Amino acid sequence: MRVDTECSRRTALTMVGSLTALSLTSSCADGYGARRYGQADLAANAADTPSEEHDPLQDSAQNPEPNDAAAADPTAEAENETEDEDGAEDGDEVRQTRWGPLNAADRDLLIKVRQAGLWEIPVGQQGAGRAAKATTRAHMAEIARQHIALDQIVRSVAQKLRVPLPDQPTDDQQKWMREISGKSGVAYDRIAVRRMRLAHGKVYPVIAAVRASTRNTLIRSFAKQAETFVHGHLEMLEETGFVDARALPPPPEVPQPPKGGDLPAPPATEVI
Ligand SMILES: [Fe+2]
Repeated sequence: MRVDTECSRRTALTMVGSLTALSLTSSCADGYGARRYGQADLAANAADTPSEEHDPLQDSAQNPEPNDAAAADPTAEAENETEDEDGAEDGDEVRQTRWGPLNAADRDLLIKVRQAGLWEIPVGQQGAGRAAKATTRAHMAEIARQHIALDQIVRSVAQKLRVPLPDQPTDDQQKWMREISGKSGVAYDRIAVRRMRLAHGKVYPVIAAVRASTRNTLIRSFAKQAETFVHGHLEMLEETGFVDARALPPPPEVPQPPKGGDLPAPPATEVI
């Protein structure tokens, strides 16, 4: 089970290898933990005393990475000047692209993933230094690193599909960041993991719904990537031991709960 978990996380890193300086492994079989984090991280995690030299949460909240990929690709700049305006006016409209029709849910997925990075990156970076437990620090550092890579992907996809992205954490996210920053010791770990676990639990079904329904091949590919990231983050958060079941959202409603017991289960051979 653990090997599957680690392979899943590494798959996320592999997909973005060309975009990041993250070190990758060549096998899921062994030694992943030692290679998953860079040498600097291993050294930092060896000490059990958190560092508080600076506050990434403050830094990133004030200076997020730009969402305009044209900044890194001057050849696309002129085209994007008008494309962003078009995208902003899409509303519920289904717009044709070279990758297929792009609907509101497709665009919303890009926005939600970008929005997740706007708070998870600074919180993860802050938690890497301030969390009380070494596992929390290591996993939050890894989540931040992966979100930096995912952010590059979502900005690239959004540029291609002419979808404007947000630049600032939402009011709720800013409230959570203040709440987390105000804690220390184990209370810091507990509230940071709780808030991040809740947020991941909300975006996870959104990704699955778009992955299942989209007619846009670029969005489908992106949703597959995003699902791998979020799946890995859920597992890393749960492995900290600070996920509180009482703080999880209620289970989804079942319109017509199965009655059960009315009919015997058919033989497996009859279920095609
Ligand atoms: Fe995440």
